[in-house]
Amino acid sequence: MKGLAVIVLAAGLGTRMRSGVVKVLHPVAGRPMLLHTLDHLRALKPESIVAVLGHQAEEVSKVLPEGVLTARQKEQLGTAHAALCGMKKLKGFTGTVMVVSGDTPLLDTETYRSVVSRHRKSKADVTVLTAVLEDPAGYGRIIRDGGNVGRIVEQKDATEAERAVREINTGAYCFQTDALNKALKLVGSENAQGEFYLTDVVHITAASGGKVTGVPAPRPEEALGINSRVELAMAESMLRKRTNERLMASGVTIIDPAATYIEPGVVVGRDTVIHPGNHITGNSIIGERCVLMPGNVITDSTVKDGSTILGYSVISRACVDEYASVGPFAHIRPGSRLEAGAKAGNFVELKKALLGAGSKASHLSYLGDAIIGRDVNIGAGTITCNYDGVNKHQTVIGDGVFVGSDTQFIAPVRVGRGALIAAGTTVTRDVPEDALAISRTKQSVTLGWACRKREQLARTKKK
Ligand code: UD1
Ligand code: CA
Repeated sequence: MKGLAVIVLAAGLGTRMRSGVVKVLHPVAGRPMLLHTLDHLRALKPESIVAVLGHQAEEVSKVLPEGVLTARQKEQLGTAHAALCGMKKLKGFTGTVMVVSGDTPLLDTETYRSVVSRHRKSKADVTVLTAVLEDPAGYGRIIRDGGNVGRIVEQKDATEAERAVREINTGAYCFQTDALNKALKLVGSENAQGEFYLTDVVHITAASGGKVTGVPAPRPEEALGINSRVELAMAESMLRKRTNERLMASGVTIIDPAATYIEPGVVVGRDTVIHPGNHITGNSIIGERCVLMPGNVITDSTVKDGSTILGYSVISRACVDEYASVGPFAHIRPGSRLEAGAKAGNFVELKKALLGAGSKASHLSYLGDAIIGRDVNIGAGTITCNYDGVNKHQTVIGDGVFVGSDTQFIAPVRVGRGALIAAGTTVTRDVPEDALAISRTKQSVTLGWACRKREQLARTKKK
């Protein structure tokens, strides 16, 4: 939007969070709450965005997207003072200034855009985004004067009658630059908190004959300002609900949305069924017709069409191709890939491992730094011994190999295609194509031995 600049107030510590971490860095749906707001603001394409930073400014700066300017508020003297610090970065700017809070991550692009449009259409000096709430406790109340806003009174300064007002200040406003500059000079700190309130700009402007309009948010629940951990959890659940409803509308079955944790950046294809307790985060992509049984944690991973993730599996930065099967209780670690139709079953761990198309590791295995071809059978209990205490080494297994149960591969080692590794073998040398590798001590059988032993032991039994 042309002629628009935005100031985001993010300098406060957030005392009510009772945290060592500055409030705006607390994550909602996996990302610092400030970034949700910045995403929505960036979508408006304003001429500039200024973030006003104070507490833990260095840490906050690190997460800011490119192009966001910063201003410093050394002492947190109040929201008006913070806005003033932001205005210093906008010297010479003459258009519309929107000021928003860094702790209202649910207000979205559409809502912000509509405030700017309404502000411009009404030719007001100040436009306040308001919300009518069932329970307005804690928020600044909108005191109307005719149709316009006369002033905003903070909860702590409000009379009983004012506290009964259910229209609240969301903390997002549009200002004519001149009107804001003029009023900011006149804001004092004679109030219950001894702070310079940005909300005072409203009555200062109105009292000097300026026009202040109040625009109620279309979805009042989005006004939620996060001041405490309880409100953090409320925001989390609302964002989660939004994501789940969007996915369900696009054709995904979510058995119990309240118990399903999907971050907003995740993509899920249609006719996929997601059971309770799944956590799908980051840039994960789940294909069509997949089934995610309960309790999986899937992070920055791809699961392609038709695959099944049986319960309680963890998949991180890995790829599961079409019609593959993972779990239950599998751990697919970074850099791993199951090709089409492959299976990593119960208590199987893969790390930087490729399991070729149709290959199966069904039970109790560790496959690390391994390249496994197609149609390989990995017997129960197979382990790649990839670490010598200093370095990691690779195991390479060709197509069609049969690996018997309880095999160890002492890497680096290679097995040619079609070879057979007998159960219980410790593979220390390369195995050529179609060969048999076996390393066992010869079995001996002594007839009657067990019976004689039992009798001997029985004679020694103490009465
Ligand atoms: C503020 C509003 C209140 C409104 C509510 C909406 C004022 C005086 N009150 O109250 O009317 O209903 O938001 O959520 O503005 N900040 C700074 N520097 C400061 C103080 C605050 O940058 O010196 C930042 C905070 O980091 C925060 C935002 O401003 O992101 C709002 O401050 P907060 O203390 O949360 O204000 P509220 O009491 O919620
Ligand atoms: Ca707040």
